[in-house]
Formats: sequence, structure tokens, C-alpha cells
Amino acid sequence: MGSIFGGGPSTILKYVRQKSLRLIYANVKERILFDAVNGIDTITQVQKGAFSSRINNLAHGVHYSSSWTSEIVFGFEICRNKLGPDFEKYAFIDIGCGRGKVAIKWKQMLRKRRLEQNVYGMDYYDYLIEQAKYNYRKVIGKDGAFFCADATEFDYSILGGHVIVYLYHPFDETILRPVLAKLQNQSVIAIYNNPVHEDVLLSAGYKLVAEKRGFHPQAQTVVLERNPKNPQ
Ligand SMILES: C[S@@+](CC[C@H](N)C(=O)[O-])C[C@H]1O[C@@H](n2cnc3c(N)ncnc32)[C@H](O)[C@@H]1O
Repeated sequence: MGSIFGGGPSTILKYVRQKSLRLIYANVKERILFDAVNGIDTITQVQKGAFSSRINNLAHGVHYSSSWTSEIVFGFEICRNKLGPDFEKYAFIDIGCGRGKVAIKWKQMLRKRRLEQNVYGMDYYDYLIEQAKYNYRKVIGKDGAFFCADATEFDYSILGGHVIVYLYHPFDETILRPVLAKLQNQSVIAIYNNPVHEDVLLSAGYKLVAEKRGFHPQAQTVVLERNPKNPQ
């Protein structure tokens, strides 16, 4: 039997195997290494069945899984280059921060470059917020600013007028739209990993700044910006 791979079923199997090997390698490089070096656990996923059923909007959220390290680094470098000397004016928040990996990695990159920014994390599951606080304190050596809140209810004005938001596909459009509406008076750069609802940001006036379209949904990140003085 011929195929687009130019061979029979054995060729297809070979490609399938190669893809899973690539994924195994990516998980070691992008997840296991970060935890091993820092002595914490951000890898362990939490499926939605294990979340407290009292959480409002649980039906609209995704389970917990950590970002790949190189996607966080990509977002950081794009923001730094794009914002230049204004970079430190911006606060950073991971919306749906889970076990805190993104805030920890972001803070590590700031420290390495002797840069200052206020770094926040927010998640609607209190267990994950406790994990984020524990992990951040262990790696960074001081308390992090983590909030247990629903993304639609969080007071984003505490972040100031300039905000970098990180989203690793945390929820569906029902939540994303009101979150963007709450951010409409701030200058926002959005780093969106696995950007399933990128169209929602584009239709809210965000402009694409950079994109990384890797081999796997986890390896895909877009950076978009929206300036309230020039929204369209
Ligand atoms: C795919 S995980 C991303 C974790 C983390 N940002 C990272 O990249 O490592 C999505 C997270 O979003 C959280 N989440 C989903 N819906 C939310 C909502 N409405 N408000 C706050 N957090 C939410 C989940 O609890 C989960 O921890």
C-alpha cells in the first residue's frame, strides 16, 4: 500500500515511532530537566477530575500541565527585544499558573540579566497555588505573588498600566473574552502557548508580534500586543 510517506505501513510505523521519540526527548529537555535542576515538581499533571468540584468555570478550563521551558524563553526574549528599555515598566502574570513553573523561570531569567519586574501567578485551584508558592520559595528563596482566583474575577488593575500576560491555553473562549475585556485599558503583550483561540485575541484588536509554530501544540507560541491608545 502506498502512502504520502512514500512507503508501506512499516514506513508509517517508523514515522510514528520517530515522532514519539521526539516527544520523549522534548519532555526530558523541556520538562524533566527543569524540575531536576531546581529540585521541584512541576511536571506532574492534574486532571480535571481531581480538581475541586466547587470551582466555578471548571467546565471551561483545561487540566494542569506545565509549559515547555523553551516556549517561556521564547516569550521572554521576544518581549525584551520588542519593549527594549520599557521592558521593566511591565508587570508579568501567568494566568492559570498551575504549579508555578512559568513564574519561576521568568524570575530566573530576570535575575540572570539583572532586570526587575513584578511577577505574578494566578490559578483558580487552591491546591495548585499552594504548590506554586512552595516551588517558588524553594527555587527563588523568597515568597512569590500567587493568587487563588478565577481569571474572570481577578482585579488586573493591581498590575499597573503595562502588563505581559502568559497563557498556556488555560481555558475556552467563554473565559478568554471577559478576561481580555478586563484588560482593555492596559497596554498588554500576550504570550500565548498552544494558541487554540488566537482568533479571539485578533478580533479583540491584538496584533501579532511573533510566532513559533513547532512540531507539537506545546511547541507553538504566539506573541501579540494591544495598545489601548491604538486598539485597532
Ligand atoms: C495548561 S495549565 C498551564 C499551567 C501553567 N501556566 C504553565 O504553563 O506551566 C492551565 C491552568 O489554567 C488553570 N485555569 C483554568 N481555568 C482557569 C480560570 N478560569 N481561572 C484561573 N485559572 C484557570 C488550570 O487550573 C491550570 O492550572
